[in-house]
Amino acid sequence: MKIKGLIFDLDGVLVSTEKNHFTAWKKTAERLECDFTELDNEQLKGISRVDSLKKIIALTGTNVSPVEFDELLIFKNEIYLESIRELGPADALPGVVELLQQAKAHDIKLGVGSSSKNANAILELLQIKDLFDAIIDGNGVSAPKPDPEVFLNAARDMGLSAAECIVFEDAESGIMAAKAGGFKVIATGNPHVAELAHAYVETLIDFNLSIYEESF
Ligand code: BG6
Ligand code: MG
Repeated sequence: MKIKGLIFDLDGVLVSTEKNHFTAWKKTAERLECDFTELDNEQLKGISRVDSLKKIIALTGTNVSPVEFDELLIFKNEIYLESIRELGPADALPGVVELLQQAKAHDIKLGVGSSSKNANAILELLQIKDLFDAIIDGNGVSAPKPDPEVFLNAARDMGLSAAECIVFEDAESGIMAAKAGGFKVIATGNPHVAELAHAYVETLIDFNLSIYEESF
């Protein structure tokens, strides 16, 4: 199948901000007297800010008021934003810029499909935003991952069908979203989810489009 578009998740695929999300959630969970672990965080990867907080609250077995819920969301995002303030072009993950440039040179369309409401700001800090033909983030969907909407909207804005695109993901929720939308999905950066995807590459340096076109 000729691939005409590549759609990238952001956190953990284009940039290693997953550890920043984890640290910010851990501090937020401390306010709820919850000892939040990296294993717990695995369930949060790829899902929206609101759904993440709901999962942490479920871990504590307590209830929080709607006001406290909103305060916790703001608290988490402030810690997160402070931690990524100095993000720059050197923070794009290995192989990212090279792959984006190669794809552009071959007229392959590029998209982002992220649950993050901070995606546009991060792409600007990395100085890669202008390379993308479509950017769908957490502000642009009614149903977050694992719903396929984010990827379907990205493909639509690229003028392509799901079958013509490959999605790159590092999280179970995102892999499920891509599969539900009829995309081929390559897991990267997170060996825990490798088995769930159609293929796995440790970093995007290891991705070669012509090999994948032959095998898909
Ligand atoms: C996803 C991350 O990309 O975005 C999650 O994998 C994060 O860890 C989610 O919680 C929402 O991000 P934000 O920036 O809107 O809080
Ligand atoms: Mg991710």
